[in-house]
Amino acid sequence: MSVHSEIKKITTETLRKMKFDKEKITMLTAYDYTTAKMVDAGGVDAILVGDSAANVMAGHETTLPITLEQMIYHTQCVIRGVERALVVADLPFGTYQSNPEKALDSAVRMMKEGGAHAVKVEGGAEIEKSIRKIVNAGIPVMGHLGLTPQSIYQFGTYKVRAKEEAEAEKLMEEAKLLESLGCFALVLEKIPATLAKKVSESLTIPTIGIGAGADCDGQVLVYHDMIGMNQGFSPKFLRRYLDLYSEITGAVSRYVADVKAVDFPNENEKY
Ligand code: KIV
Repeated sequence: MSVHSEIKKITTETLRKMKFDKEKITMLTAYDYTTAKMVDAGGVDAILVGDSAANVMAGHETTLPITLEQMIYHTQCVIRGVERALVVADLPFGTYQSNPEKALDSAVRMMKEGGAHAVKVEGGAEIEKSIRKIVNAGIPVMGHLGLTPQSIYQFGTYKVRAKEEAEAEKLMEEAKLLESLGCFALVLEKIPATLAKKVSESLTIPTIGIGAGADCDGQVLVYHDMIGMNQGFSPKFLRRYLDLYSEITGAVSRYVADVKAVDFPNENEKY
């Protein structure tokens, strides 16, 4: 039993205290009501309505096509299933980078229409003004550095970021910038574990890692990956807790066989 497991409603302040108390923070993605209910009941501290919904829900190759309206819809569905976890929603590509007013409008819609408790944005210095504007409006912002999938066409690959000294130094500076702008937490995606440790130790806000080693203040995974629904995606950092792809295709095959054999429905399964 952890110090904070009795808390009825997780807030950004709870996450800050968890870092202070050296209790690891847990986060998983969810995009719908039923999943959010199970993930919340399982005891995660935070749920991310990630723009990875573009991949796992809609089948897009990148996260770029998902719209603000679609992210608001996913967030509304998740919020209805959650009692305890802090719900953070991604602002999608193109809704916060161009100017601070647009960023604030997007964040306000996500909070007001989606019901999110906080928003997440990708990037550092280039979105400084947008972050400042959102934070000043009283909206909690989670940052995201390292591999930022909304910039995939600039990176060209999904390989580990910040392996070189210059990029590592820039990431450290931007992490400090995000903290100074008032971000309440920071996702560190796919960077060397040694760098993630250094960043985590030099910030007072919690870091949540994905492919960034065990020294981050918390961990996040995409739900569909950790329950093994997504067979084609096997990065080194992923631990699968179930093999649901096989379980589900097996169940569907048995159902198909039963119907074809006129075994389903049987005498007890009819009116
Ligand atoms: O969209 C998402 O699921 C994310 C996580 C991978 C951190 O941003």
